[in-house]
Amino acid sequence: MRRGVLIFLVVNLLVVSFLVRSVFTLLSLLVEDASADAIHRAELPSPNSSLIEQRPQVIPKIIHQTYKNETIPEVWREAQQSCIDLHPDYEYILWTNEKSREFIANEYPWFLETFDGYKYPIQRADSIRYFVLAHYGGTYIDLDDGCNRRLDPLLAYPAWVRRTVPTGISNDAMGSVPQHPFFLRTIELLQSYDRHWLLPYITVMYSTGPLFLSVIWKEYMQTNPSESGRVRILMQDEYNKYSWSFFTHHVGNSWHGKDARLIFWMGQHWLFLTVCGFLLAAVVGFSLWWLYARLVSLSSKYRYRYSKIPAFISSSRLSSPTRASRRMMPTLLRRVSFKEDEEAAGVTETSYELYSRRD
Ligand SMILES: *[C@@H]1O[C@H](CO)[C@@H](O)[C@H](O)[C@H]1NC(C)=O
Ligand SMILES: *[C@@H]1O[C@H](CO)[C@@H](O)[C@H](O)[C@H]1NC(C)=O
Repeated sequence: MRRGVLIFLVVNLLVVSFLVRSVFTLLSLLVEDASADAIHRAELPSPNSSLIEQRPQVIPKIIHQTYKNETIPEVWREAQQSCIDLHPDYEYILWTNEKSREFIANEYPWFLETFDGYKYPIQRADSIRYFVLAHYGGTYIDLDDGCNRRLDPLLAYPAWVRRTVPTGISNDAMGSVPQHPFFLRTIELLQSYDRHWLLPYITVMYSTGPLFLSVIWKEYMQTNPSESGRVRILMQDEYNKYSWSFFTHHVGNSWHGKDARLIFWMGQHWLFLTVCGFLLAAVVGFSLWWLYARLVSLSSKYRYRYSKIPAFISSSRLSSPTRASRRMMPTLLRRVSFKEDEEAAGVTETSYELYSRRD
C-alpha cells in the first residue's frame, strides 16, 4: 500500500504542477494592469487639436471589419457608417465568410484545415482578424463599435490593442503594422490553442477570443520586445468613455452564433468563471483525496481479514499447509493490493482529465 500512496502522491504532484504551470499566465494576468505599455492620454491630441502632428503614421490606412455576408444588420449600420464617413481616405475591407476563407486558402493554406474545422463561426471571425492585421496591417474594428473621431493618432504606434476591465485585453479594436511580431506570434499559436474546453464559451474565449489573445499578450510581454515590437494599450477612457474617446459602443454585438449573448456574458465575466473553475477543481481534488483515503482504510481492513485466514485454515483444516499454499496467499494479497493501486491510479487519472479541462 505504501507504493499506492507513493503513486497517488506522484500523480497528484504532477497534476498540481501541470495545473500551476498552465494557469500561471492566467494568474499573472489578474495582476497585470498594462500601465507599462498604456497609451497615455497626454500623447493623444484632442479630436480637433491645432497641434501639428509630428509622429509618423506607421499603421496603413485600412479599416477591417467582419460579418458573415455583405448584408449588415440594421443595428450595426450606423456604427459601420460612422467609421466609413470619418475615414474617406482609408481603405475599407469587409471580411465576409467567403472572402475570409478565400484569403486563408490563398495566403495561409497551412491554417485552412484549422480554420474550416472551427466548431463555432465566431472562432473564424476571431482568427481572421489576426491574420488580416498580420498580413495587411491596419485597424480592425468590431461591427458594434462606432467611430467617434479619426483614428490617425493611433496610427503612430506599431501595434495597439485595447484594455478590458477587470483584466486582460480585448480583440474588438486593434491596430498593427503588417508583419508585426505580436500578431505573427498570435497567428502562429492559433493552431496549438485549438482545443475543446467542455463549455462552448470557454472554448471560444480560450481558443481564439480575448482570453487567448490576453494570454499570448502576457507571454509576449515577457520577451521584452524592442520599441517597434511593443504592443501599446488603449485604456478604457480613451476607448469609449468620453467625447474625446475613439469609439462609441452600440447595442448588440457582432457575434454570429445563437448563443452569442451567453458567450458575450461569459466573455465579460471570465474572471468570475476562472475563480469558479478553481473552486470546482479544489472540490474535485478534495473528493478524490477522501475517496482515496476510504479505499486505503477499506483495503487495510481486507488485508487484516485475509491475513487471519491462513492461520485459521492451517490450524483447523490443513494439518500441515504445503509450501505452495503458503506461497499462494502472499501472491493473492499482492494481487489485491495491486488492483487497488490500479484503481487509485485510475481515479487520479480521471481527476487529471477533469483538472486539465478546468483551468
Ligand atoms: C470637432 O469639430 C467638429 C466640427 O468641426 C465637431 O462636430 C466636433 O464636435 C468637435 N469635437 C470635439 C470633441 O470638440
Ligand atoms: C446574408 O445572410 C442573411 C441571413 O443570415 C440573408 O438574409 C441575406 O440575404 C444574406 N445576404 C446576402 C448578400 O447573401
